[in-house]
Amino acid sequence: EQTNHYNFNIQMANVTRLCSTKSIPTVNGQFPGPKIVAREGDRVVVRVINHVEHNVTIHWHGVRQLRSGWADGPAYVTQCPIQTGQSYVYNFTVAGQRGTLFWHAHISWLRTTLYGPIIILPKLGVPYPFAKPYKEVPIILGEWWKADTEAIISQALQTGGGPNVSDAYTINGLPGPLYDCSAQGDTFELKVKPGKAYLLRLINAAINDDLFFSIADHAVTVVDVDGVYVKPFDTEIVLVAPGQTTNLLLRTKGYYPNARFLVEARPYSTGQGTFDNTTVAGFVEYGGVAFGETLPLRKPTLPAFNDTSFAANFSGRLRSLATAQFPANVPRSVDRRFFFTVGLGTSPCPVNGTCQGPNGTKFAAAVNNVSFATPETALLQAHYAGRSRGVYSPDFPMYPLRQFNYTGTPPNNTMVGNGTKLVVLPFNASVELVMQDTSILGTESHPLHLHGYNFFVIGQGSGNFDPAKDPANFNLLDPAERNTVSVPAAGWVAIRFLADNPGVWFMHCHIEAHMSWGLKMGWLVLDGSLPSQKLPPPPADLPKC
Ligand code: C2O
Ligand code: CU
Repeated sequence: EQTNHYNFNIQMANVTRLCSTKSIPTVNGQFPGPKIVAREGDRVVVRVINHVEHNVTIHWHGVRQLRSGWADGPAYVTQCPIQTGQSYVYNFTVAGQRGTLFWHAHISWLRTTLYGPIIILPKLGVPYPFAKPYKEVPIILGEWWKADTEAIISQALQTGGGPNVSDAYTINGLPGPLYDCSAQGDTFELKVKPGKAYLLRLINAAINDDLFFSIADHAVTVVDVDGVYVKPFDTEIVLVAPGQTTNLLLRTKGYYPNARFLVEARPYSTGQGTFDNTTVAGFVEYGGVAFGETLPLRKPTLPAFNDTSFAANFSGRLRSLATAQFPANVPRSVDRRFFFTVGLGTSPCPVNGTCQGPNGTKFAAAVNNVSFATPETALLQAHYAGRSRGVYSPDFPMYPLRQFNYTGTPPNNTMVGNGTKLVVLPFNASVELVMQDTSILGTESHPLHLHGYNFFVIGQGSGNFDPAKDPANFNLLDPAERNTVSVPAAGWVAIRFLADNPGVWFMHCHIEAHMSWGLKMGWLVLDGSLPSQKLPPPPADLPKC
């Protein structure tokens, strides 16, 4: 085990895409940002120095942060933002995890440009449970706006309407040849050798869309999701929601001189709103002796943009490596049971009649009808100091407050309330949570991300969850373990986790528009009685609000 040090200078840089140049916040002038590489068990220390006008925080998405909640990063949840000219050192270990995760800014919409891969290798001498790859390649999917994204989201929040969609999807920051104006060098190219295995570390860092991903004429093997191995399976198309990561083994074909295969990603969208239905493309290229003829360019076939059955099938195939002999570590008994509705709603228009949401209202989004109101000080700091009054209340509802409907026919009252509410859990409580999609406009899938934990995905289904029947089919043997799960459009998902990590842990939809509208809440996990079960005091340089 070693300690890996990084300096992240948050600084503006000029970047040109789609024929226009803009100044964007970056880490060390790089876009996408630098990659963090660690071995399982290593310590990672990142000094973040803010040289831009915006307040900044960085989140290490999917890192368990065992007893290091002060390093988690969501603004006003575990820390106050790092202000211009200030710095903060994030210090954490990557214990019990191996695979691909990513880091991103966690304030406003700054993650549109501030993101990069986290690669966690197995401990020295511990092999992968699959053939050793010849090469490992991070593939990080994102979105590019020509306009300033901070202006876009603040305007959307003021008018109550939906934010503008992006101008392109990107692979490793590059939009590729299917967009107008893509210049040379704007395309992701992976040069491969024949007959080798490549480990593709696929990350969806896009802002508002689930994405299908495929390589023409090549099946890939899914071997890991969210930093946890799964039982390998082959597929030609991968679906990855914002906040999810998927490791894929690509086995290249035998002898293939000069062949090029398109790699494409395009959204899976179940919502009624507008979305960018364009495609980012790159190439897998076989080098080789030039005497063979160049094969015609092959294109992958992606599902229809709203192919919900593909989505259900794909997530249903994800199983952990556990077996009957070595079952997964799923909590067998449940101490606390929750049922949350997640979805869009409306809230009253503050500026008489000018709101662009349904019937002159403002768009809002909520969990159990509570749209999260961001506090002015960090929740974890308030809790640690024993000063929660006026900051948050410990009464997040266990069940929805109002009647709900998943069919798309709006219930009479779609208004949601605001609040800064947490669920308080005793240390080591085992939690079962069923999340049900609800809707006012139409159904929509929501990638729910939990900070500080992995959870087991023990069930999913379409329609309304039936508490009398559905639990009989829960998979407690080999469920996938992850940090971000899609609540299916017009359906539900059930998860379990053991609350063994004290702190305040954010849970939210990883679609940034929904998160901005309030689809977020938090869990406060109390200290246990042993010293090893307590959250240590905050570091001295923790920013102040
Ligand atoms: Cu990747 Cu709270 O998010
Ligand atoms: Cu959502």
